[in-house]
Amino acid sequence: MLFLLVCFPNVFLLLKVSSANISINGTRGEPLFWPCYHTFSEPFQPNNSLIYWQGCRKPHILLHAYVYGKEEFQHQNRSFKNRTTIFPDQLPSRNFSLIIEPLMLQDDQIDIEVIFRSQIKSTNRFCQTTVYVAAPFQEPKIEINRKEKTATCNTKGGFPEPEIKWSSGDRGTNLKPHKPSTVIFEEDGTFSVSSTVSIIGLQNVACEVYNPTSNQTLTATKEVSVPPPGWKTIIIIVAVTVVAVTVTVVVVYIYKSNKSHQCPQPTEEPSTSERAGGEAADSAFNMPEDHEPKETVSLEENSQLTKL
Ligand SMILES: *[C@@H]1O[C@H](CO)[C@@H](O)[C@H](O)[C@H]1NC(C)=O
Ligand SMILES: *[C@@H]1O[C@H](CO)[C@@H](O)[C@H](O)[C@H]1NC(C)=O
Ligand SMILES: *[C@@H]1O[C@H](CO)[C@@H](O)[C@H](O)[C@H]1NC(C)=O
Ligand SMILES: *[C@@H]1O[C@H](CO)[C@@H](O)[C@H](O)[C@H]1NC(C)=O
Ligand SMILES: *[C@@H]1O[C@H](CO)[C@@H](O)[C@H](O)[C@H]1NC(C)=O
Ligand SMILES: *[C@@H]1O[C@H](CO)[C@@H](O)[C@H](O)[C@H]1NC(C)=O
Ligand SMILES: *[C@@H]1O[C@H](CO)[C@@H](O)[C@H](O)[C@H]1NC(C)=O
Repeated sequence: MLFLLVCFPNVFLLLKVSSANISINGTRGEPLFWPCYHTFSEPFQPNNSLIYWQGCRKPHILLHAYVYGKEEFQHQNRSFKNRTTIFPDQLPSRNFSLIIEPLMLQDDQIDIEVIFRSQIKSTNRFCQTTVYVAAPFQEPKIEINRKEKTATCNTKGGFPEPEIKWSSGDRGTNLKPHKPSTVIFEEDGTFSVSSTVSIIGLQNVACEVYNPTSNQTLTATKEVSVPPPGWKTIIIIVAVTVVAVTVTVVVVYIYKSNKSHQCPQPTEEPSTSERAGGEAADSAFNMPEDHEPKETVSLEENSQLTKL
């Protein structure tokens, strides 16, 4: 009598647990460990036992079978060929766990259970479980369209369809996209998603991509205001200035040195030539392109040098 009183609540609890709606979430490409334990009073006799790991709904998909002491693969569903593992040596201790490897997107939302039948007693069904499969999304990217004053968040390669949320750091508030996200179901079974919000009056935006099955959130943030010139811009400006100054200095120097060559040449009025040379150098400094020497042949040569 005492034995019954102690045992009964246990059995009751077990029945309740085994009929519960359990879900296990896995990742595409990785192994999924489906834990399943059950206690029944009768002794486990492999040679008299039939065990099926199968879909709960009709037509029952057969994932794995154990028939009278041996694993049996003949009736296994093709899509689970080579993907399932059980632990035959653990069966006597009522460990009916199964591994599916690799997990595939097509396994998403299958309801599975274990059927145990022995010749001694009637059929047991237990470990009813729903499998959910996740594939991680790529890091989301935000693109700003200044003309339209919008920000668009893009991501792809994930499963199932994600939830996208927008917020802005300035106000710490959630933003509402002005139209529903664009969702594309790709040929490989993954989703590509794109969502757009208005950025009028905002300094930055953040986009959150939530995968409900993996319970993972990816976040991207972006400054809306025009960014200040970065180091690259500054370096380019400095380099261009330095080159421009150097070229000018060199040009002036060549001018001057050529003019001093001119000096010893016999000239009628050295003072006039010197003045003309000085003027030519000045105009070369200001706009070397337009400079047209009129005075002497040697000055024309100088102007070609300037152009080169
Ligand atoms: C079990 O879960 C599935 C999927 O979440 C749901 O459709 C079903 O109604 C649930 N069943 C029970 C008995 O709660
Ligand atoms: C189970 O069957 C195998 C052959 O299929 C046999 O060798 C073995 O002795 C049997 N075991 C029991 C406990 O009957
Ligand atoms: C295998 O299972 C899939 C569903 O996952 C089903 O469409 C297909 O008909 C099954 N194949 C066999 C041979 O039972
Ligand atoms: C299962 O694996 C075996 C060897 O590892 C291979 O010969 C066979 O083609 C595979 N079957 C499927 C359906 O992948
Ligand atoms: C069931 O078997 C698996 C594989 O050996 C093991 O990882 C797991 O811990 C076992 N569970 C129990 C309760 O023994
Ligand atoms: C598993 O995935 C389902 C469906 O996406 C989700 O409702 C549930 O919260 C997930 N469970 C966990 C533990 O993340
Ligand atoms: C998802 O993860 C958060 C922590 O990152 C946790 O607090 C929450 O309970 C998880 N949700 C589910 C359904 O597992």
